[in-house]
Amino acid sequence: MHSREVIVRTRIVGIVAASVVALGVAGCGSDDSGSTSTPVPSSDTTASATVDAKDLFVNGKASTGAVACGNCHALKAAGTTGTAGPNLDEIAPDDDAAVLAEMITDPNAEIVAGYQKDIMPQDYGTSLTADEVQALATYIDENSDHAE
Ligand code: HEC
Repeated sequence: MHSREVIVRTRIVGIVAASVVALGVAGCGSDDSGSTSTPVPSSDTTASATVDAKDLFVNGKASTGAVACGNCHALKAAGTTGTAGPNLDEIAPDDDAAVLAEMITDPNAEIVAGYQKDIMPQDYGTSLTADEVQALATYIDENSDHAE
């Protein structure tokens, strides 16, 4: 019973805050004295706006079938030890995020010496969003030793 009260009160505070924001944006400054009909927009956008690149690298994305990079690639920062693909601590010094993003979405464009084509999944361009590819590329660039 007590906890229920707390929840109700929290909600009301949220609604009032949202109304204040809505009024501010609308800028119509009416002498509002407790309007309650303003629909409260879902504030659930932060989760999808921020990409957790390490999580993607280690776990992949089950909802679209994107296979975890760490299954095949070692990267110390991610704690992965996969060996089917090259060790990503040892990418070329000049492999920056832009180059890496292309390697992720079009792996066969250039095959790393000693490896075969068609082993790395070819579908990351569709199983990951552009933001996710970019976040992974930046994550690898920033965490790799670039120790080729
Ligand atoms: C099924 C195994 C497999 C998975 C899963 C995989 N890769 Fe690969 N990857 C490879 C292989 C094999 C190569 C080398 C052949 C080539 O160049 O395509 C490679 C090459 C690369 C390269 C080039 C490395 C270099 O030394 O230049 C990068 C970068 C890369 N992968 C990133 C990723 C990322 C990021 C993911 C996850 C989104 C991923 N890979 C998932 C197998 C895999």
